Amino acid sequence: MKGMSKGVANYGDAGFSLFLRKAFIKAMGYSDDALDRPIIGITNTFSGYNACHRNVPDIIEAVKRGVMLSGGLPVEFPLVSIHEAFSHPTSMFLRNLMSMDAEEMIRAQPMDSVVLIGGCDKTVPALLMGAASANVPAILTVTGPMITGSHKGERLGACTDCRRLWGQHRAGEIDEAEIEEISGKLAPGPGTCMVMGTASTMALVSEAMGMMLPGGAAIPAVHADRMRHAEATGRRAVEIAAEGLRPRDVMTEDSMRNALRVLQAVGGSTNGVVHLAAIAGRLGFDLDLEELDRLGAETPVLVDLKPSGQHYMEDLHKVGGLTPVLREIREYLALDCPTISGRTLGEEIDSAAPAWTQDVVREVADPIHQGGGIRLLRGNLAPNGAIIKQAAATPALLKHRGRAVVFTSLEDMANRIDDPDLDVAAEDVLVLQNAGPKGAPGMPEAGYLPIPKKLARQGVKDMVRISDARMSGTAFGAIVLHVSPEAAVGGPLGLVRDGDMITLDVAAGRLDLEGDDAELEARRKDWTPPGHTKATRGYAKLYFDEVLQAEDGCDFDFLRHTPRGRQP
Ligand code: FES
Repeated sequence: MKGMSKGVANYGDAGFSLFLRKAFIKAMGYSDDALDRPIIGITNTFSGYNACHRNVPDIIEAVKRGVMLSGGLPVEFPLVSIHEAFSHPTSMFLRNLMSMDAEEMIRAQPMDSVVLIGGCDKTVPALLMGAASANVPAILTVTGPMITGSHKGERLGACTDCRRLWGQHRAGEIDEAEIEEISGKLAPGPGTCMVMGTASTMALVSEAMGMMLPGGAAIPAVHADRMRHAEATGRRAVEIAAEGLRPRDVMTEDSMRNALRVLQAVGGSTNGVVHLAAIAGRLGFDLDLEELDRLGAETPVLVDLKPSGQHYMEDLHKVGGLTPVLREIREYLALDCPTISGRTLGEEIDSAAPAWTQDVVREVADPIHQGGGIRLLRGNLAPNGAIIKQAAATPALLKHRGRAVVFTSLEDMANRIDDPDLDVAAEDVLVLQNAGPKGAPGMPEAGYLPIPKKLARQGVKDMVRISDARMSGTAFGAIVLHVSPEAAVGGPLGLVRDGDMITLDVAAGRLDLEGDDAELEARRKDWTPPGHTKATRGYAKLYFDEVLQAEDGCDFDFLRHTPRGRQP
């Protein structure tokens, strides 16, 4: 079935169902000629709460232009929109809801292909998860990064500089009036965070995976190229409707491997690991964390963007976007992967403009960081894994043994971290428990534990910090994340107590708690789950009943292509 005849509502009389559908769609003013065209759905993820999607109406207009220039009928439809700062308790808590919305609306409504418009951190993963499950021909475009702001002559970007300047405010170096003034300068317009945060990471890995036309990831939100890319996306959407090119034809195990390579080479956000694991689960395979580690060991970090480097996404766009990265790591990529353009990844790299001298994307021989941005850790503290973004950590802390200072929850941390009487020293290890997928809930980006105020005032900039939470890709430090199993489901992280000794050895890929087994076993017997990890109704009940751990992308078990049939 094609066009308006696809998936009619069930009234027990298919002819009547189609007649009724046409009667209502004609109320929109469409002609019969328009209704006979390929129908191209366009997800409208605009929201008054989502500044990262502020330019979605303009992008929709450009996509529509492309669709109509190619003879299709564009039909936009709304979807849930999630912004990081406007999602209680966390955006991660809601990502799966958006993915379900995307899957069901793509499947329920008649469309021969769909243009997915994402941008802010969780929206691209949610759209790709939904599209992978619905498997209707789909093409992604993004809202694009913000341009940079400035303060007292210094170039600023959300949210690396949000965190850095807030840290200075906490340390007493920036007063109330100035920090208020700065809040108006960090995000100076529409678009996504312009450092190598999760939004930039997911845009780049999605392009590498082949779901977006070349060049789309890095074009700034306000650039005319952004609209031309959207128009081209609309044109291509009509073609894939005819070709039947589906998400599962493009997102394969090989293209996922390319995405992991790019994640490492761009110094991408650790959140990318969680989201790619969730997308892989929708496609029918598992993300292999050992492979991520192996690929990382042989893939240097090449992109000189904050927080690991110095530039911003608009600089990456000016030097060619993702293409120079792909060109540099070409020998590591599966070049025969199909992309949504209809050409292979290798053909796309070959047809790109020649390289020129620039300082944003380094050569493999002169990397920002040798040996990958993200490392997998295992050990008795993280039997199912944990990760660290070593490229953004203080090198001296990558091998460290320290005394645990434990916070049992986010609330406990908020109450005590700045207590002048807190027994903490710079060489200690800060441990945050119960901030994982179920514990918080929603695995907040709380892994960037603040440096206790009394140490910050002494000039301490980094400490080893360990949690089952996530971290914004815009953050930095010796921060161990995604410890699994999380504390709230009985993971060893929940057994750590003040004064325990913890060893981190990133080169060896180890995270271990010292202590005798009998003592740990006794603590395990005493352990009880936190009271809030259940809900009796609504989406929260679904979330608590079904959410999986970080290594499964925090997806709901029943949404996976092949449910595991178990709870974490
Ligand atoms: Fe939307 Fe950073 S808050 S991309």
